[in-house]
Amino acid sequence: MRKIILAGNWKMNMLNRNLEQFFSELETSIDGGIANASERIEMILAVPATLMEKAVKVGEKCKVQISSQNIHWEKTGAFTGEISAEMIMETGVETTLIGHSERRQYFGETDKTVASKVSASLDAGLKIIACVGESQKERESGITEQVVGRQLTAILKAGASKTENVVIAYEPVWAIGTGLAATSEQAQEVHKFIRSEIEKEWGKEKAEATRILYGGSMKPENTKELLSQKDIDGGLIGGASLKPDSYGKMISIGSSSL
Ligand code: 13P
Repeated sequence: MRKIILAGNWKMNMLNRNLEQFFSELETSIDGGIANASERIEMILAVPATLMEKAVKVGEKCKVQISSQNIHWEKTGAFTGEISAEMIMETGVETTLIGHSERRQYFGETDKTVASKVSASLDAGLKIIACVGESQKERESGITEQVVGRQLTAILKAGASKTENVVIAYEPVWAIGTGLAATSEQAQEVHKFIRSEIEKEWGKEKAEATRILYGGSMKPENTKELLSQKDIDGGLIGGASLKPDSYGKMISIGSSSL
């Protein structure tokens, strides 16, 4: 049985001075309490680098793991503005997002750099949530599987040595920040495809064990429906994870839907 993950991605939002309030509001907004929820689901928040150290400490009390949003693939060197896996781990963070569509779109990340980041993270001992997803134009052109398959292959080949530390997030670009989530059928169709691709690359057992998250306008209103799909093992939540009551509601729904 795959444990559900509800991961928030705060993107470039939030300040250290608001962290305590966020976590205290989150605690009170989860039905049955956060300790009970954490036995059923994994809660992760991907925060900006400036928040990591404090968020690890405050989050620990709430059983929320903290993730980075990105890493560089080299260990050290002349890479102004970048942060390595080891630097992130020094703050107590154990996970990183890789290849989010905003990184691909605005910062020129390619399948090749994504693969390098996957290898660097896993070698350093980080767990990863690696993102794939098609644009609206690609969906309309009927090449969703082609695009997702290509992005996925780069990740799966680079991640083959430590499959237990790899989580995949399917985030259709057209659903991110638009309020227009994929329907549960649309999402399930691609998740099923992703699991079949994992099976081809890593074998059946590992494909059955790998968590695949959905991301793109996920909110309390569509959480139950999305999580009820066979191949959807959680969510990567942007806007709704910034509001403790919304994220708390989604955690309550996730932990009671089992
Ligand atoms: P929204 O939930 O705001 O659409 O963002 C999704 C996302 O990009 C999570 O990584």
